[in-house]
Amino acid sequence: MRKLIKNGTVVTAADIYEADVLIEDGKIAAIGTDLKSEGVEVIDATGRYLFPGGIDPHTHLDMPFGGTVTRDDFETGTVAAAFGGTTTIIDFCLTNKGEPLGNAIQTWHEKSKDKAVIDYSFHLMIGEMNDDVLRELPQVIHEEGITSFKVFMAYKNVFQADDGTLYRTLLAAKELGALVMVHAENGDVIDYLTRQALKEGNTDPIYHALTRPPEIEGEATGRACQLTGLANSQLYVVHVSCADAVEKIAEARNKGLDVWGETCPQYLVLDRSYLERPNFEGAKYVWSPPLREKWHQDVLWNALKNGQLQTIGSDQCSFDFKEQKELGRGDFTKIPNGGPTIEDRMSILFSEGVKQGRITLNQFVDITSTRIAKLFGLFPQKGTIAVGTDADIVIFDANVERVISRETHHMAVDYNAFEGMKVIGEPVSVLCRGEFVVRNRQFVGKAGYGSYLKRKKYGEDMKHQQDSIPVQ
Ligand code: URP
Ligand code: ZN
Ligand code: ZN
Repeated sequence: MRKLIKNGTVVTAADIYEADVLIEDGKIAAIGTDLKSEGVEVIDATGRYLFPGGIDPHTHLDMPFGGTVTRDDFETGTVAAAFGGTTTIIDFCLTNKGEPLGNAIQTWHEKSKDKAVIDYSFHLMIGEMNDDVLRELPQVIHEEGITSFKVFMAYKNVFQADDGTLYRTLLAAKELGALVMVHAENGDVIDYLTRQALKEGNTDPIYHALTRPPEIEGEATGRACQLTGLANSQLYVVHVSCADAVEKIAEARNKGLDVWGETCPQYLVLDRSYLERPNFEGAKYVWSPPLREKWHQDVLWNALKNGQLQTIGSDQCSFDFKEQKELGRGDFTKIPNGGPTIEDRMSILFSEGVKQGRITLNQFVDITSTRIAKLFGLFPQKGTIAVGTDADIVIFDANVERVISRETHHMAVDYNAFEGMKVIGEPVSVLCRGEFVVRNRQFVGKAGYGSYLKRKKYGEDMKHQQDSIPVQ
């Protein structure tokens, strides 16, 4: 059935205007004023914004980590994402050294099959580089449409790759048309510092942060940028948490390098003091990189405003406090890293960013959706509201006030990292390819509705990379 969303305010990365939006066969068929409503289902959006569906470029659903598995899988995680206004996620497919990449991709297809309620795609972890891996990469790109590779510079003896692997991945990505993503922390130095801390009897959650200082992230970010320049390749730095890393990204971009940076809601609104909460509650706030001293937040907000950072990912990686985070009682290195953020990514950016005057409405759309679609080969199918694009639309009430809480969230996890935080703004209804997933704040979607998205090569649409919104 055709749908007509009437009287909303359409917001794209470039424009804000009042219009009706006609949806036909899952696509936007027309945008205009006073579009005819005969024979179509009419949805009144008076007083509401219409945003392009959010794209979350950084999730870990159903992911094994630290001897346990994340609580949210492709069903609960995507339901929560939809409530937060996200209609596409890109999840990290983890690989095992010595095993074909294809096996790992198959595993991720099995995890997500018949589960996702919104569209999804995968990034692929590269843990080692050798002839076998190199031989498989063209197939990964052409058959699976996976055009972004993730290299971990930390988590020694688990995910960490060496610099040779990073460099060779950058070279291969350049040749094949992929974007290299890095978790930028110096894993070797962290390994030394954590051993020292434990030897000295320092086992509380706060030592997670104290053994991963900002210099560790700044150094690895700078190294990755230098190697990108040497390889004449392209780089996307995930979960940037601190001034030290922002500085390195800005320096690289000022030199003309093809380097991009993502931050996450937790780094924008939470700080290192949360790790000192009593009764082991600090474990709820263990992320890598760790939460930083509060002053770093201003640097991150400014970087989003002036374009030195371009995107926000959730880094959704949820573990229950009970039995999962608790694995690290008496040894902070055993606390599974990560937190539940997929649902609140857009609300936090809207409330703390747009409502507080830190970023504009157009920037909000660019940071949560458009820029991500462009970088990861989904634009213009995803990431904007225009005739011919997928009808991924968020009908957003920009005035409602609410309190984030575990009591009302839709994630499977037993706490909310932003518990008690007051935010302004909420998605009222969310459509993915023209079908309601959330309607009037109720879930009406279906497990398995989400489609796997094969993505275009990096740089295939370079003209889209240039038409960025003006820097504020
Ligand atoms: O603490 C985090 N960020 N957990 C998820 C895995 C990763 O490093 O992105
Ligand atoms: Zn990471
Ligand atoms: Zn992550």
